[in-house]
Amino acid sequence: MKGHPRWFRPGLMAVALSLLLSGLLLAPSMLMMRAEVEVPWHLDGSQRVGVAAWHALSAMLATWVVGALWTVHMRAGWRRRLQRVSGALLVGLLSVLAGSALGIYYLGDESLSVLAAWVHLVVGLVILLPFAWHAWYAPWRRHRAMKPH
Ligand code: HEM
Ligand code: HEM
Repeated sequence: MKGHPRWFRPGLMAVALSLLLSGLLLAPSMLMMRAEVEVPWHLDGSQRVGVAAWHALSAMLATWVVGALWTVHMRAGWRRRLQRVSGALLVGLLSVLAGSALGIYYLGDESLSVLAAWVHLVVGLVILLPFAWHAWYAPWRRHRAMKPH
């Protein structure tokens, strides 16, 4: 990634993986406790607190990473008119994740809070597709299209 130190890209991937893994581990407890869905396995109470702290820490690190992308990567890509749609979609979905996380923390009304948790989980899984498209498939396609045949 131009304009960033060499460790930035692996760092971004590590934070994304950490968010996904901790989110996946939280999912069974969420489904059981909040959505009353039967699950074969879930974290017990103290494990859940530890994994929720791990997830929240990863989310805070993610806001730093996205903040750094904002100043260099997004502005450069936007000016060159490259990957605008998938980039903007990622920013939109990340905003929904942050907004629904606030809902999970602070919405007092039980049914709204459960709705926020569902939106959060579904968007957390769905975002993998535009992320994979944006980070790997689109640059690879462009690279191939530019190669002389
Ligand atoms: C930038 C992205 C993300 C942010 C800012 C974020 C933030 C948060 C926060 C602050 C919480 C509350 C933790 C707690 O229960 O105390 C949470 C819960 C949760 N997150 Fe994320 N998260 C993100 C991505 C993801 C992803 C990718 C998944 C995918 C699996 C996910 C799944 C979950 C689940 C299942 C919960 C538990 C909900 C509940 O028990 O009500 N999150 N998230
Ligand atoms: C409007 C917003 C955005 C635009 C215009 C944009 C543009 C681009 C472009 C043109 C590339 C291909 C070449 C390059 O590395 O410069 C790219 C790659 C990439 N983008 Fe974005 N992007 C945006 C937002 C994001 C966001 C929010 C993320 C992460 C959450 C992200 C993560 C990546 C990654 C991981 C790569 C692959 C880089 C590499 O292989 O070195 N981008 N983006």
